[in-house]
Formats: sequence, structure tokens, C-alpha cells
Amino acid sequence: MATLLFYITFLLLYNGVITIDVMRYASVQYSILYSEFIDSQGQFYPYYGHPLEEDWTSTTAVTGWTSGFFPGVFWNIVQYNATREALNRALSVTMPTAAFANSTSPYNAGFIIMSGFGTAYRLLKLKEYLDIVITGAHSLATQYSPTVRCLRSVDSREGYLVYIDNMMNLELLFEASNQTKDQSLYNLAWQHANRTMYEQFRDDNSTYHVVEYNETDGSVIRKYTVQGYADWSTWSRGQSWAIHGYTIAYRYTKYQPFLDRAIGATNYVLLRLPNDSIPYWDYDAPYNSTYQPRDTSAAAIFASALVELSEYMSDPSLKDRYLSVAKSIVDQLSSPNYMIYGDKDYKLSALLANGTIGPYPKNPYDVALSFGDYYLTQTIIRLMKHQ
Ligand SMILES: *[C@@H]1O[C@H](CO)[C@@H](O)[C@H](O)[C@H]1NC(C)=O
Ligand SMILES: *[C@@H]1O[C@H](CO)[C@@H](O)[C@H](O)[C@H]1NC(C)=O
Ligand SMILES: *[C@@H]1O[C@H](CO)[C@@H](O)[C@H](O)[C@H]1NC(C)=O
Ligand SMILES: *[C@@H]1O[C@H](CO)[C@@H](O)[C@H](O)[C@H]1NC(C)=O
Ligand SMILES: *[C@@H]1O[C@H](CO)[C@@H](O)[C@H](O)[C@H]1NC(C)=O
Ligand SMILES: *[C@@H]1O[C@H](CO)[C@@H](O)[C@H](O)[C@H]1NC(C)=O
Ligand SMILES: *[C@@H]1O[C@H](CO)[C@@H](O)[C@H](O)[C@H]1NC(C)=O
Ligand SMILES: *[C@@H]1O[C@H](CO)[C@@H](O)[C@H](O)[C@H]1NC(C)=O
Ligand SMILES: *[C@@H]1O[C@H](CO)[C@@H](O)[C@H](O)[C@H]1NC(C)=O
Repeated sequence: MATLLFYITFLLLYNGVITIDVMRYASVQYSILYSEFIDSQGQFYPYYGHPLEEDWTSTTAVTGWTSGFFPGVFWNIVQYNATREALNRALSVTMPTAAFANSTSPYNAGFIIMSGFGTAYRLLKLKEYLDIVITGAHSLATQYSPTVRCLRSVDSREGYLVYIDNMMNLELLFEASNQTKDQSLYNLAWQHANRTMYEQFRDDNSTYHVVEYNETDGSVIRKYTVQGYADWSTWSRGQSWAIHGYTIAYRYTKYQPFLDRAIGATNYVLLRLPNDSIPYWDYDAPYNSTYQPRDTSAAAIFASALVELSEYMSDPSLKDRYLSVAKSIVDQLSSPNYMIYGDKDYKLSALLANGTIGPYPKNPYDVALSFGDYYLTQTIIRLMKHQ
């Protein structure tokens, strides 16, 4: 039973706006989830949950694509305050994801391994964690087609499908390549980013969610959506994945066209954000007529990308603009408008409400999403460097 005093403990007053001290609140919410993880014998990896319900819908460490975000939140808590307890929790939720490195369906190895073991290695520099990153990268590389010049994104009999989300998986290949000096992993990731740049963007710098290729001759068969409003529309989270993915690709390659893609796709978003900076679930959904939900995860992923993108800007006014948008998004997400906070009817242990899986209304909407919580906490950690 949460008391009023419990909630007041987390309030911050900043520029007249009341926000919640997210990192401290995260350690409370996630310590409840940690107990659930222990009670489940390591089987509980939250995926999404309704704020008014007690239980998350979860996966295990090796099913689905979202199991890296749970360890990822714990690593962000460690980066905020490296207590022994926080470190032990982060390690114990990360360990079961190791088995994914050898998966025969390694399509999302980048998401799963980089948020857990990738971060563990970056912080602790233990060789056994690097080995998992390298094994995972080689598993992911098996999905590359030299004819299509892309990595396959899903195990599908429908054809050779590439989702824009999978730009995020390239970080695993680039990182493993940089650590081992294995140029072939770098080349695959570079080719995927290069072909996607030509095929998956429209002239206005918006993105298609999915491109289906012909595996025999590498040609494009069709461009469509799975989670957006329409084939021609721009799914907000997909656009955020693209921006974050090209920012990471630029981090490792310094190839200017990748940076230009990230900037172009960012400009598309900046012209379309609603006045509180939290996107609707699709930039083309008719949100001026019927109810359309937001997607707080799209906001958090975009904000995380903007912080890194700002570091590559030589023009100080662009640098400031990107950082200030990232900060406004974090402020909004940290307010009671979007946090699972303060309302006695909330039962879920989580941070962000108002995430939308897509498409609306077929799939869950106005829910907590593990990646929303992960990218929000990641953005806060990234912003700490800029204070
Ligand atoms: C970090 O955690 C320790 C132990 O719980 C606490 O004493 C300290 O105040 C925390 N630091 C911050 C910055 O929250
Ligand atoms: C992956 O498989 C190899 C070969 O069977 C094995 O040596 C390695 O320990 C496995 N790695 C993980 C993380 O399970
Ligand atoms: C990049 O992709 C484009 C379009 O598919 C292709 O024409 C070009 O040859 C690729 N660049 C390299 C260096 O492979
Ligand atoms: C794929 O390409 C091959 C070779 O050009 C062609 O025979 C086949 O019909 C194509 N498949 C589809 C689904 O377009
Ligand atoms: C790649 O590795 C080198 C040294 O091993 C390091 O200095 C550099 O920061 C790494 N690059 C990235 C993008 O992490
Ligand atoms: C799309 O982005 C590119 C690269 O940043 C830019 O040159 C171009 O002007 C943008 N197109 C539109 C319509 O904004
Ligand atoms: C944003 O727009 C809505 C409706 O157009 C309005 O009710 C609300 O007050 C605006 N919020 C801010 C912060 O301007
Ligand atoms: C509502 O938004 C759609 C695009 O999302 C636009 O085509 C339409 O003109 C808008 N309607 C009004 C009344 O603003
Ligand atoms: C957020 O979700 C709640 C339901 O959980 C809903 O009542 C509220 O209107 C949503 N907020 C926005 C801005 O869409």
C-alpha cells in the first residue's frame, strides 16, 4: 500500500513543472520486479503491462525480442548509483540472456545482447561478457544475404522481410567488429545500413516499416506496414528506431550519409511532434478526429537518439536544439501525465504508461512497455553527461 508520503518523496519541482525523480523511482519499481524475477526462478522478463493490472505479460530470457530491456534498466540504475545491490541485480537478470547468443533465430540479438551483456562489458570489461557479444554477432551474421545485402529481420515463410527496427541490431555487429577487428562483421552491418537507406526511406525522410525483398535476385517486392496505421504512413516507433539506428551506424563508421539520414529523419519528427513532444503512435493517424493513443516508447527512443546525435553536431545551435528537445521529452515523460505514479488505481510496477504496441486498436495500447522504461532511463543517464 503506497502512502501519500511515499509518492511525495519522488517529486521534483523544476522550472515550475512537477516531475518525478525517475531514477530513484525506477529503483523502487524495479526492485519489486526483481523479486518477481527471483520468485519465477529467472523466467520473468517483462514485455508489456496495463497500468491498472498487477501483472506484466512476460517472456523468458530467450523468447521474443524484448528480454534485453529488463537487464538494461538495471544497468541504467547501476550507472545512476553503483551500489553493490544494484550491480548484483543487474548481473543476475543479465546472465540468463547469455543462451540467446547461440540462438538459431538470432534476428534480434542486437537488442537483447547489447542492452545486457554489451553494457556489462562496457562497464566491467570482463572478457567472458565480450565473448557473448562476439558469439551473438556471429549468430546474427548468419541472417545476412549477399544477394539482398541485408540481414533478415524475422523468421518468415512470407519472404525475405527487413523491418526498420532492425537498424538497432547493427550495433552488435559493429561493436563485435571493433573489438575483434573482424572486418566482415562491419561490412555486413554497413551493407544493411546502406541498402536500407535507399529502400526504406521516402523522399520526405519518413520510413516504411517493412520491405520485402526477393531473396533470389535481391529486388524489392513490396513496402508495407505491420505495426503502423497504413502502408503509406509513418509508424512513430519505426521512425525512432531509424533515427537511433543511423546515429549508431554513424558512431562506428563516420560515414556522412548515415548521419544525414539520422538528421533528415529527425527533422521529419521535429515538424510533427504534438505540443507536449510525445508522438501519437503513427504520424499519419487521424489524431485530430477520433481517439488515438500516444507512444511514449517512440518518444523515449527518439530522445535517447537525440542526445547522441547532438554530440556529432558541429553547429552549436543544432547541438542545443537536439539536447533541449531531448530534455523536454524527458520532462514530459517524467510528469504524472505519463508516469505510472501517484494514482491509487495503478497496480503495475513500471515507469511509463501510454506506450502503444501498434497497430491501434488491434494490439495493446496505453500500456507500459519494457523498451519505453529502458530508453527513458537510458536517456536520463545520457543527459547526465551534458549537465
Ligand atoms: C545511492 O545509494 C545509496 C545506498 O542506498 C544511498 O545512500 C545514496 O544516497 C544513493 N545516491 C544517490 C545519488 O541516490
Ligand atoms: C555457444 O556455443 C558454443 C559452441 O557450442 C559454446 O562453446 C559456447 O559456450 C556457447 N555460448 C553460450 C553463451 O552459450
Ligand atoms: C549502397 O547501396 C546502393 C543502393 O542499393 C548501391 O547502388 C551501392 O552500390 C551501395 N554501395 C556499396 C559501396 O555497396
Ligand atoms: C524472385 O526473382 C526470381 C528471379 O528473378 C523470379 O523468378 C521470381 O518470380 C521472383 N519472385 C517473386 C515473388 O517476385
Ligand atoms: C573502437 O575501438 C577503439 C579502440 O579499441 C576505441 O578507441 C573506439 O572508441 C571504439 N569505437 C567505438 C565507436 O566504440
Ligand atoms: C531529407 O533528409 C536529407 C538528408 O538530411 C535532406 O538533404 C533533405 O532535404 C530532406 N528532405 C526533406 C524533404 O526534408
Ligand atoms: C496542447 O494542445 C492541447 C489541445 O490542442 C491543449 O489543450 C493543451 O493545453 C496544449 N498544451 C500545452 C502545453 O500547450
Ligand atoms: C486531420 O488530419 C489528417 C491527417 O492526419 C488531415 O488529412 C486532415 O485534413 C485533418 N483534419 C482536420 C479537420 O484538421
Ligand atoms: C494515457 O493513458 C491513460 C489510460 O491508461 C488515458 O486515460 C490517457 O488519456 C492517456 N494519455 C494520453 C495523453 O493519451
